[in-house]
Amino acid sequence: MHDQQPKLTDQTALWKGSGGQAWVALQELIDQLFQPIEDLLVDAVSPETTSRVLDVGCGTGSTTVAVARRLGAGARCTGVDISDPMIAAARGRAARAGASAVFIVADAETYPLERASFDAVISRFGVMFFGDPVAAFTNLRGAARAGARLRCVVWRSAAENPFMTTAERAAAPLLPDLPARRPDEPGQFAFADRDRVRRILDESGWSEIDIQPIDVPCAMPENALVRYVTQLGPVGRFLQQADDELRARVVATVRPAFEPYVHGPEVRFTAACWMVGAHAAT
Ligand SMILES: C[S@@+](CC[C@H](N)C(=O)[O-])C[C@H]1O[C@@H](n2cnc3c(N)ncnc32)[C@H](O)[C@@H]1O
Repeated sequence: MHDQQPKLTDQTALWKGSGGQAWVALQELIDQLFQPIEDLLVDAVSPETTSRVLDVGCGTGSTTVAVARRLGAGARCTGVDISDPMIAAARGRAARAGASAVFIVADAETYPLERASFDAVISRFGVMFFGDPVAAFTNLRGAARAGARLRCVVWRSAAENPFMTTAERAAAPLLPDLPARRPDEPGQFAFADRDRVRRILDESGWSEIDIQPIDVPCAMPENALVRYVTQLGPVGRFLQQADDELRARVVATVRPAFEPYVHGPEVRFTAACWMVGAHAAT
């Protein structure tokens, strides 16, 4: 397996560029925030039946390394991600942890993954960005051995995840040009519609599709909130090019909107997600 130079779409450019760099900069915070979701994915991988795992859109590799540690030295855990900076961080993480995980920079939609070579395909928030999701899940299905299990966590709708859009709603009067979120478009909420996800998996050749709502409590330190808001998401991306004066005004406007989520030293919210499960038919 070798790194690939994927076609430059908006999502590719975002993750290879500012979006990926922001995730690397906030890696520790994001690891902490989404640890409960990692646990849901990793604890479900059975060492009895699984030794080859593909982690799709693995980012900085937290879930890939966690699953490699769970399965032990004989396992082969592979993380695939389109973002060079995130894969560099993932390789560093695996080396520091002494984990036997390998990482590829590639577009999971098109990369020629070895056929029938994985016992399980997992993803935490890494499968909502494909231009052609059916092509992507068909590619992943081809890489899964007969009987392999698919298990991905994706976001439900923006309406069910108000924490995630608090910053852009509060900043809207100051930032009227922020791009609107469009349902079904590649992006954070692209898999919000359960019926659509079911159709995508069905058309991609996956069987026994089971999509269940999960509501996962997440927390971060209060003193990390401004860093989070000013670096991630549409507001964070906009602020990367803003001057100090506008940045200060946006922070002063946005921070009070998060008050309902602040509980003393912690910020808490519920991540409203789907646990998407399927099997590769035998
Ligand atoms: C929201 S981040 C999640 C990262 C990681 N799974 C985590 O939970 O920390 C989404 C990830 O999907 C990756 N990604 C987006 N489109 C991709 C594609 N077509 N192929 C592979 N990875 C992709 C991005 O580079 C990014 O690392």
